[in-house]
Amino acid sequence: MRETKLSAHDFILPLFISEKISAHQAIASMPGVFQFALAEIADESQRASDLGLQAVLLFGIPKDKDEQASSAYAENGIVQQAVRAIKARCPELIVITDVCLCEYMSHGHCGVTRMDGEHFHVLNDESVQLLAKTALSHAAAGADIVAPSDMMDGRIGAIRETLDANGFEQTGIMSYAAKFASAFYGPFRDAAESPPKFGDRRSYQMDSANAQEALREVALDVEEGADIVMIKPALPYLDILWRVRERFEKPTAVYHVSGEFAMVKAGAEKGCFEERDAVLEIMTSLKRAGADLIVTYWAKELAEWTRR
Ligand code: PBG
Repeated sequence: MRETKLSAHDFILPLFISEKISAHQAIASMPGVFQFALAEIADESQRASDLGLQAVLLFGIPKDKDEQASSAYAENGIVQQAVRAIKARCPELIVITDVCLCEYMSHGHCGVTRMDGEHFHVLNDESVQLLAKTALSHAAAGADIVAPSDMMDGRIGAIRETLDANGFEQTGIMSYAAKFASAFYGPFRDAAESPPKFGDRRSYQMDSANAQEALREVALDVEEGADIVMIKPALPYLDILWRVRERFEKPTAVYHVSGEFAMVKAGAEKGCFEERDAVLEIMTSLKRAGADLIVTYWAKELAEWTRR
C-alpha cells in the first residue's frame, strides 16, 4: 500500500571535477564528498553507473579565473574534458553539466559585473551570451543535458536558440528555474571554490519569501524551452515544489543542497538520529511532494539503500 517508492533512477549524483589536483581531495564541510581529478572522473562515473544511477551532474573547478569566465567555455576546459572522458567510458550514463560562471569568474559572481562607484551590477544580457557559449561548448563535448544555475533572465531561450542553431537540437535543458538566495549553499561554495568576493547573489537569485514570483520564473523557463525545471534548495521549499509540479506538469527536479546535506551529517554525528533513516525520510518527502528527480550528495548510498 506504500504510495511513494524510491529507486536509483530518482537520483542524480553531483560530481566536482578540479583542474588543480591530480588525486581526489576531501571537502572539509561535506563529509564523504570529494573533488576529483580528471584522471579519476571516468572511474567515479563508472562506479555511479554500476550502482544503478542514471545521471551525474558535473561542476568544474578551473585552474584559471578571470573577469570573462574564459575557462567556462574553453574547448579544453575542465568540464569539457571531463564530459569527453565520461562519455568515452560510460556512453549510457546521462551527463548533465552545470552551466554557471561563478566558478570561473575571479570575483565569484554568476555573471559579468560592472562597478558603479561603490556599487556593483551584474550585467544580465552580457552574462547570458557567455552562458549560451558555455552551454554550447558542453554540448559539443557530448553533454546530454545542460543545467543553467545562474538565474539570469532570458538565458533558457538564448541557450535553446544557440544549441539549435549549431545542430544540438537533441541536447536537453534542465533549468534551475526557481533558485532561491539561500543560506544553505555555504558548503558548496567551499567545494566549488566559488564564494563571491564582494556583495551577494540577491540581485539574481530569488527571495525566499516569494512563491508567486517562483511560479512566474518557472513559467518563463518553460516558455523559453526548459525540458526539466528545478527547485532549489529542497526541504525549505516543498510548497514551491508541489505547486510547480501541479501547475506545469513538467518533469520536475529538486536539488537537496550542500547545507541541507551538512545539517543531516552533523545531526547524525551528534547522535540525534540515524543518518540512513533521516535521509530516506527526506528523500521520500521530496518525491511525495512532486519531485521526479532529486539531486543529492547521497545518490550513491541511496542507490544501495533503495535496492529491491
Ligand atoms: C552555482 C551553484 C551553486 C549551487 C549549485 N550551483 C551555488 C550558488 O548559487 O551559490 C549550490 C549547490 C549546493 O549548495 O549544493 N551557481
